Amino acid sequence: MKQKFENIKLGTRTLMGVGLVCATFAASAQNARIKIDIDRKIGEVDKYLYGNFVEHLGRCVYGGIYEEGSPLADDKGIRLDVLDAAKDLNVSITRYPGGNFVSNYHWKDGIGPKDQRPPRMELAWARLESNRFGTDEFVDYAKRIGTEPYFSVNMGTGTIEEAQQWVEYCNVKSGPYYAELRKKNGYPEPHNIKYWSLGNEMDGFWQMGHLNAEDYSKKAREAAKLMKLTSPDIKLIAAGSSNYRPNADPNEWNATVLHELRDVVDYLALHMYVGNTENNYYDFISTPLVLEERTRVVKGMIEREMQNADRGNRPPIYIAWDEYNIWYRARNEDTMAGTRALEEHYNLEDALVITGFLNAFIRNADIVKMANMAQLVNVIAPIFTNEKGIFKQTIYYPLQLFAKNVHGTALDVHVDCETYNTDRFPIGLGESATQQNNVPFLDVSATYNNGEVIVCVVNRNKDKAISTDLISQEGQFSGDFEVYEVNGPDIKSENDFGKTTVQTVNKPALKVKTAEKITYAFPPHSFTMLKGKIVK
Ligand code: AHR
Repeated sequence: MKQKFENIKLGTRTLMGVGLVCATFAASAQNARIKIDIDRKIGEVDKYLYGNFVEHLGRCVYGGIYEEGSPLADDKGIRLDVLDAAKDLNVSITRYPGGNFVSNYHWKDGIGPKDQRPPRMELAWARLESNRFGTDEFVDYAKRIGTEPYFSVNMGTGTIEEAQQWVEYCNVKSGPYYAELRKKNGYPEPHNIKYWSLGNEMDGFWQMGHLNAEDYSKKAREAAKLMKLTSPDIKLIAAGSSNYRPNADPNEWNATVLHELRDVVDYLALHMYVGNTENNYYDFISTPLVLEERTRVVKGMIEREMQNADRGNRPPIYIAWDEYNIWYRARNEDTMAGTRALEEHYNLEDALVITGFLNAFIRNADIVKMANMAQLVNVIAPIFTNEKGIFKQTIYYPLQLFAKNVHGTALDVHVDCETYNTDRFPIGLGESATQQNNVPFLDVSATYNNGEVIVCVVNRNKDKAISTDLISQEGQFSGDFEVYEVNGPDIKSENDFGKTTVQTVNKPALKVKTAEKITYAFPPHSFTMLKGKIVK
């Protein structure tokens, strides 16, 4: 099936795939400054910002998390090397089973005795689906890696009744047919799946059973009704726009879906994949700005709809970036089908873009309450396998550092540093849209949690370290500051089996004692996390 190719367009500018051959820079002789004020709060960082995604696609499930008969798997077929790497990533929530796959997936095919499950043609990614891994196996897996399971229902070829029955199978203790069937299959207790998305990318022409916004909203609302009548405490995620092709209107889709489902759903799902097809580092490294702009646009739409919504005492709708990553190399007919689909091999610049996404989620922590890297293993993934073992891709390390450390309250930091310009940026409206050189070299987020401050800094400058004063506006930095760095010899440095070139390095701590200012030189093309205390 032909997939969408995103051509990021904002206003009259076409942003993706067009760039200056070289960026221009605005210079400054002074130190850069990052001002941190623990009183300037954005919002609480949701633990579900560090989610992931497992789709029946390529080798994500079969040959990834699950490989029957492999010497690296246990007697249930679970690859133990992958399991350990997934556990160590602290994945907070994991979406399953798709993706485009889900739009023709009938969950009943994947339960009961394995040898009696029907093999099916998998049409989204052109494979044979054996169905030997399904609902119960995924729930067991989620428990083992300590992640919250998050299911997607089929809003393409599936029915609202089928969605209701899946919720019954998972969440009803006993009595009705599907609850009893789960018990018969060996699960006396309900799985208690709390998070359910109402379909996947339903605005995309590539989606099996694609609908227009009005038809999708009607079907999703009725599915939601049946699902909530079955299990009232579930949280529902509506499919937001994913089609950014030139003739699509993602904002119109989002506006309609938000309007129609404003009383019903808890999140709007957004997806974004970026790439460096033109091999233009400065354009590519700036792409998280586009995600941030889309976040702001959707936040405005949500605010408008919340004014007249009838939600009882439920919080407003939040944004779930429930698919994001870098995906451009494995994006042609040969690499988008079959058992080796979407196998991207990541490098350092990709890891820095991922850090940019994570910083953007933190800076928008008031509205972004879930994010899922797509996907966990082999398929555009931080973990990569062969029959003999695994390696951790470059993008594994920033995600792991954030998931293990970045919690608490997101702070609104002030950053003053040298800037650069590309053809694709600046973005936005008014004065900022006409300014030149307004992409800052330093991309920063900060959080504060029980006296501890964490500052995450990407130095996007490919060639120069940036000497920076970190200034505490309220209280003083105190004690040792831990320093973690993700970097490599070159922006194109990669990891591979038996070769870890890009990883987290624990650098010598900064001996701060007590001070209002710390000075640190962020190395070229690096991600640095500083972790220490602020005392009042
Ligand atoms: O993650 C790969 C695919 O990207 C998903 O199946 C789909 O939702 C998106 O287009």
